[in-house]
Amino acid sequence: MRILGIESSCDETAAAVVEDAETVLSSAVASQLTTHGKYGGVVPELASREHLCAIVPVVREALDRAAVSLDDLAAIAVTVGPGLVGSLLVGLTYAKSLSFARGIPLIAVNHIEGHIHAVIMEARRAGTPVEYPALALVVSGGHTHLFEVREGFLYRLLGKTRDDAAGEAFDKVGKLLGYGYPGGPVIDRLAPYGNSAAVRFTFAKMKGNALDFSFSGIKTAVLRWVEAHDMTEEIEARRALLRACPQPATEQWLEVTPQRTRDLLASFQHAVITELLTRAAASAGEIDARTLIVSGGVACNSGLRTAAAAALLPYPVHFPSFGLSTDNAAMIAAAAFPKLARREFAGLDIQANANLTLA
Ligand code: KG4
Ligand code: ZN
Repeated sequence: MRILGIESSCDETAAAVVEDAETVLSSAVASQLTTHGKYGGVVPELASREHLCAIVPVVREALDRAAVSLDDLAAIAVTVGPGLVGSLLVGLTYAKSLSFARGIPLIAVNHIEGHIHAVIMEARRAGTPVEYPALALVVSGGHTHLFEVREGFLYRLLGKTRDDAAGEAFDKVGKLLGYGYPGGPVIDRLAPYGNSAAVRFTFAKMKGNALDFSFSGIKTAVLRWVEAHDMTEEIEARRALLRACPQPATEQWLEVTPQRTRDLLASFQHAVITELLTRAAASAGEIDARTLIVSGGVACNSGLRTAAAAALLPYPVHFPSFGLSTDNAAMIAAAAFPKLARREFAGLDIQANANLTLA
């Protein structure tokens, strides 16, 4: 059984073919980083336009690399939300057209469920399947959510961010300090060169649901720190480096990152990681989780991976491979297999939903 997945919810146009819910035959991703990088964030109108240019070649590439034709597909799975509505519409309209023209069933997938299935698929493939109930921490540029995942893929929301997502905090701090967009990968690379105990960041105790997150406070704390220390010159040096070279190497970044700033980055990253793992472990304890799943772009963070391993949690912790942590279409195809088994098909009247929730 093969499913073609199509994903276009944010700034990546992606298509993939997955076989039997565990084998990724191909996964093509066209990233728009160079387009949005100079604006310091995703510009929705530009994203839709780029998706329009990329969707046909990306789907073709996924089919070619998997060496399958449209006739070999059991279904086409497509992200219907959450995300930018103009971006979602491109993938959804294309998927509907293919489905209609070739008589292939259409399956609607929630992007967040896709992130969770990236891990479920890889764990199954590795022979160490996820055991339920599982606790899923979905942590990306748009989401920081804790879900209970029960047998049969039933979800219950246990906590979420009340303001910024964790990835958004990385991106805003990166932008503020002159590292461009996205900030997460650069901060991850530079943090090991700093002292993570140098700057103390604290998180407020949450009123109401103790499993909720808030990352706007730490972002403001970094801003105050920057205002209190004269950093104008070094920030300008980093912006100049980015103008001269769109993707600087770690060595180049280090040359324009004084020790004090390396310490700031290390301390910021350490605080965010501690916050994520503390609440994830508390939620896992609450539901007697047998597995912890961490997924989404921030799951690429090497500090987070190391800290999760060092925490010696009483259940296995699964991260996706790097290519399946950030947005991709293999996870969308993977999430569609249980729906295919239940014959849960979408009609051609299905709408994109920018604010779709999972639970
Ligand atoms: O899942 P994703 O590709 O898109 C969304 O659904 O948002 O995640 C992108 C986010 C960005 O905020 C980016 O800064 C963050 O993931 N990210 C990282 C790392 N790689 C990507 N954050 C921290 N460390 C990383 N290595
Ligand atoms: Zn995502």
